[in-house]
Amino acid sequence: MAAMTRPPLNRRLAEFGTTIFAEMSALAVSTGSVNLGQGFPDTDGPEEIREAAVRALRDGRGNQYPPGPGVPELRDAVADHQRERYGLEFDPGTEVLVTAGATEAIAASLLALVEPGDEVIALEPYYDSYAACIAMAGGTRVPVTLRPHDGRFVLDLDELRAAVTDRTRLLLLNTPHNPTGTVLTREELAAIAELAVERDLLVVTDEVYEHLVFDDAGHLPLATFPGMRDRTVTISSSGKTFSYTGWKVGWVTGAPELVTAVRSAKQYLTFVSAGPFQYAIAEALRLPETYFDGLRADLTAKRDLLADGLERAGFTVFRPRGTYFITTDIRPLGEQDGIAFCRALPERCGVVAIPHAVFYDHREQGAPFVRFAFCKRTEVLQDAVKRLGTL
Ligand SMILES: Cc1ncc(COP(=O)(O)O)c(C=O)c1O
Repeated sequence: MAAMTRPPLNRRLAEFGTTIFAEMSALAVSTGSVNLGQGFPDTDGPEEIREAAVRALRDGRGNQYPPGPGVPELRDAVADHQRERYGLEFDPGTEVLVTAGATEAIAASLLALVEPGDEVIALEPYYDSYAACIAMAGGTRVPVTLRPHDGRFVLDLDELRAAVTDRTRLLLLNTPHNPTGTVLTREELAAIAELAVERDLLVVTDEVYEHLVFDDAGHLPLATFPGMRDRTVTISSSGKTFSYTGWKVGWVTGAPELVTAVRSAKQYLTFVSAGPFQYAIAEALRLPETYFDGLRADLTAKRDLLADGLERAGFTVFRPRGTYFITTDIRPLGEQDGIAFCRALPERCGVVAIPHAVFYDHREQGAPFVRFAFCKRTEVLQDAVKRLGTL
């Protein structure tokens, strides 16, 4: 068959065969392991938000195609959220776009803003969809590596500056950062903003973990820094904040020209999605502060439970300031290769984790690091800690 002399998969995507999450989740099932691989909560979010979705379904709100930019209730709630929390003013009519999760927002932003030949700078290790979406857009990914220093993964600002060329189209940021748990500091964000203004770069910033920042650090959106509001596409999502990752309700905020560009790509991806859930998330964004405080307190306790257990088991632990992931270094256990370690871990002690290496271009940089998710029930984490203790 002539058509098959070329591999079926578009060569731009050849390196993105199956995700590590699929492999590791299958391993968790076949070995009966505790799955601390993929980042999804094992309990659902607030009951009243589920009921809000049921009401919307019953009342016939969102059962047919919602408006392309999202239902007005949700766009208003997003705009209010940005204003009340961060002092950022966005017009819900022209500067807010609802997407099928942050995943679609990332894809649409990159497809909209990047042309073949453009370079996109991303912090390495990066969330896996970034690399695939840059490739789909025909862009060239330029990784800048976060390196461990003093218990946290740190961005080298000189390296970032040196990575910018005349072909750099945009910076793709993520704070709080998956998988390292790093929260970029005010100084780091200010330097990034200065660089973006100086080199006239667009920035796409993935802030899906904005409500998962611990130790009273608080979230700082890049768009609040001088010169950034109009050159930044900010992405967030309800999945992490409200523990309904299956609903896939995300959004983009930014200047009208940028949001319009992203919408142009988005309309040919899903056009619209999650109608009834959009109404429910509009209500979720208006939950009282006690909800957000409770989420943080619960996850802080879980972070400490798992981090302490990992330390006792012999790992070096990077206690995260944000996200629901803990990065560990396996070298104190006499191990070097995170991929081999994660493939063997289910057999050895019945726990599944994710090797960092798959999130790097410079795989050797990520080799000794392994990520564990702690968005699980306390008894599940206690069980995992007990199992890890047998290593
Ligand atoms: C950094 C980051 N961005 C985006 C997403 C995807 O978000 P959503 O489920 O809203 O598509 C995730 C989910 O793990 C993530 O970790």
